[in-house]
Amino acid sequence: MLHDPNRVYVFDTTLRDGEQVPGCQLTTPEKIEIAKELETLGVDIIEAGFPISSPGDFQSVVELSKAVSEPIICALTRANKGDIDSAVAALKFAKRPRIHTGIGSSDMHIKHKFNSTREDILARAVEAVKYAKQFVEDIEFYAEDAGRADERFLAQMVEAVIAAGATVVNIPDTNGYCLPDQYGRKIKFLKENVKNIDNAIISVHCHNDLGLATANSIAGLQNGARQIEGTINGIGERAGNTSIEEVVMILKTHQTLGLHTNINTKNFYELSRMVSSQMRMPVQPNKAIVGSNAFAHSSGIHQDGFLKNRENYEIIRPEDVGFPDASIVLTARSGRHALKFHLERLGFTLNKEELGEAYLRFLTVADSKLDINDDDLLLLMGKQQLA
Ligand code: KIV
Ligand code: ZN
Repeated sequence: MLHDPNRVYVFDTTLRDGEQVPGCQLTTPEKIEIAKELETLGVDIIEAGFPISSPGDFQSVVELSKAVSEPIICALTRANKGDIDSAVAALKFAKRPRIHTGIGSSDMHIKHKFNSTREDILARAVEAVKYAKQFVEDIEFYAEDAGRADERFLAQMVEAVIAAGATVVNIPDTNGYCLPDQYGRKIKFLKENVKNIDNAIISVHCHNDLGLATANSIAGLQNGARQIEGTINGIGERAGNTSIEEVVMILKTHQTLGLHTNINTKNFYELSRMVSSQMRMPVQPNKAIVGSNAFAHSSGIHQDGFLKNRENYEIIRPEDVGFPDASIVLTARSGRHALKFHLERLGFTLNKEELGEAYLRFLTVADSKLDINDDDLLLLMGKQQLA
């Protein structure tokens, strides 16, 4: 396999892991609409669903496979023939199908979920990959709960599934347990100890239970992983999955990492709104990259610095993620510079003394309101309100 060594593949699971959130279920037409936007965004892989889980999910994978042509379409299975048969059938129209099969890898899961042994689980993992490989060339294997798995056993499992034909090995931190350096070391250990590791791409799939999903994903990439799995807005069960928009913008902002994706970042904002509204899941205002306050400056010191040179307080240009524009929000914490900026925008040019007087009037109003809009400013200047 020949790969650009610095290219990071983006695997979107908004429609599978993301859609598992209670209340966020989508109809097939809604999934198609999102999938088409994901295609425009430039994701490399769309995980379309878990076909055995329900007839609706099966049908969604069928329809998405027809509707989307550029990205690889992936279907999830457990490590058994019934699940794999169902995925193969659901993927029959996919131009570039991928099966994502796997099993638990931590002793916790092996004992308390499968009531089994490491040897048995290893055999089932290999058997599933070999079985799926008869139908589809592109096989991704997930070692569930790898975040808590013994690293030597994990390495043994990864080596065995690559030998069985896996082209991508997914190392999920299923419970969002790891610290970034632990997770990074895990990926490094696999890179250094699995014989045929360069025959496959290592994928990072992190959950956000401790708020570390993005940091862990970056640690994985810094240690040799080249596929990142996540969702738009970080949507997902419990505290969610890694936010794709965060990881992509980190790689773009920190070019010294030397890694790049194929993502059209200008599409993030619109897609974020679409996912939020279709899944009935609001985006928190202070969410990195796509939250409504992500580019809003409100304290006087920041507003003053921003108006002198936006790079004083802006590390990403809002237009780079399709965000309407940075905003200077007027509150009681704003200073004269921010008030002058907004008054000039409305056509008022004031000298120093006039601005000082307007600022005193402004503070009186601002103390009684959460934020000040253009109508308030016009009244402040003795003008009519906007129509
Ligand atoms: O979090 C996880 O382990 C998963 C796997 C099914 C890939 O979502
Ligand atoms: Zn997951």
